Amino acid sequence: MPVGENIAFFNGELRPESQVGISIRDRGYLYGDAVFDATRTFGGRPFKLREHIQRLYSSLRYLRIDPGLTPEEMERWSLEVVRHNHPLLPPNQDLWVSQRISRGVEPALPGDTLRPNVLIETHAIPFARRASLYQTGIRIATPSVPRVPPRFISPRAKTHNYLNLILGELEVQGADPDAWAVLLDEQGNLTEGRGANVFLIKDGVVATPRGQFVLEGVTRGLVLELAAGLGLPVQERDLDLFDAYTADEAFLTSTSLCICPISSFNGTAVNGGQVPGPVTQHLQLTIENNAAFVRVLADGVRVQNGQLSVGTTRQYEASEQFCVRTANAGSVHLVLDALDLGLLGADGESGSWIVKSGLAPVRAARPC
Ligand SMILES: Cc1ncc(COP(=O)(O)O)c(C=O)c1O
Repeated sequence: MPVGENIAFFNGELRPESQVGISIRDRGYLYGDAVFDATRTFGGRPFKLREHIQRLYSSLRYLRIDPGLTPEEMERWSLEVVRHNHPLLPPNQDLWVSQRISRGVEPALPGDTLRPNVLIETHAIPFARRASLYQTGIRIATPSVPRVPPRFISPRAKTHNYLNLILGELEVQGADPDAWAVLLDEQGNLTEGRGANVFLIKDGVVATPRGQFVLEGVTRGLVLELAAGLGLPVQERDLDLFDAYTADEAFLTSTSLCICPISSFNGTAVNGGQVPGPVTQHLQLTIENNAAFVRVLADGVRVQNGQLSVGTTRQYEASEQFCVRTANAGSVHLVLDALDLGLLGADGESGSWIVKSGLAPVRAARPC
């Protein structure tokens, strides 16, 4: 195996990635007849791996595929792949961790049987590409393509067939390449985007579409739990474009995004386009504060007990951006403002993170 090559788990054994090949007659490739799930690491530790594997096994049961491994074995092999692959990344990077199981290779000859192909693989997360979204918010558009109704294919299963979501995205991005699609259902209610759940906030109530009509995101579940813990009323209910256009705040959730604010729906600004709104920001910071263990990211930048600190001799550039990732919750995105020369203390109360720094104060921390 070339030095520094990633490994993958494939059908019972660990192999260098370059030695994993899937048949051209694999039914996942031929028909989308496969399921997957994906978590990410924070500082090399998979985030809510068990919850993702539970969801994977629900998807498998829905498609009547038996992977031949217990959930515990799937978890152990996933950890093994991460243990090998994470140290191969450049410092301070993290991984997607995916399990993919197809029904197997389509039988060609008499006597051939279908045996599932089980793959566990990782790849690096491109953080930088998304960093600016936490400042500008995401523009959402709702395409004419409706989300496939649950009686056709349940969106609660995470299968290899994302064509419905991709068609919606193609339509939206044909008109605005930077917009993200959130599909409506046949009744005109919001559902979800290609990899994210949607939340609206109105008069302090945090609402999201019902679980029957979307993939029930692990982050969606965490946000509902955290919001309830903060004493915010939470609702899982039908939400239509009236709700979207009149919302006080809105955001998307996903494993990689954590919580990312929405700036508009179909060109109608949410909260005058000012993001993140106060409840969104509170939830973003709650995810951060819930982190029991926090690690260093960029040289000398630390988060500990809810406080960021910069203790380095490096000279930061104005508006330099990077992510500080926590071990078991979200990430924060820092904007260094070299023009602001005061030495400031941490202020968790107001929801803003202000950091003691010898060289450059840090302000505005957002999940990323
Ligand atoms: C269709 C869809 N909806 C929602 C989500 C968000 O789920 P999670 O928070 O588990 O990443 C995803 C991502 O997996 C997705 O693919």
